[in-house]
Amino acid sequence: MKLGIAADHGGYVLKEAIKQWLTASGYEVKDFGAHVLDNADDYPDFVVPLAQAVADGTCERGIAICGSGVGASIAANKVVGVRAALVVDGFSAHQGVEDDDMNLICLGGRVVGNKLAEELIMAFIKANYIGGERHRRRLDKVSKLERSR
Ligand code: RB5
Repeated sequence: MKLGIAADHGGYVLKEAIKQWLTASGYEVKDFGAHVLDNADDYPDFVVPLAQAVADGTCERGIAICGSGVGASIAANKVVGVRAALVVDGFSAHQGVEDDDMNLICLGGRVVGNKLAEELIMAFIKANYIGGERHRRRLDKVSKLERSR
């Protein structure tokens, strides 16, 4: 599975640790930046290119990290085709994929530690969309709204 990852300064340190861990675990990871720790950088500059890569299929799933994870999720969800959510618990990390086809997980670099982040990401990566009738019906309603904009 090809993964994309991005972070601003609030998530930079966690991103570097997660990237190293994912690569050592055998995943292909494309890093959309930030490539240096710059306290003046802005999360949309990294999260939006990542979200676009997830939307166009260049990356199968994305991981976006800012300080809280809030800005990253707001920015990612502006990209058509992206279903992003800020996740802080293991249940939502897999259920968000299974029921809602979440394709981009957002984390708070100032909220979660490395080990919890690893657990959340692993639950996200391993999960598959169930695609039952009720799931598709709900997502169709979301897609319809997205297309009407
Ligand atoms: C940056 O200081 C911080 O505001 C940002 O990383 C993020 O938490 C926004 O949601």
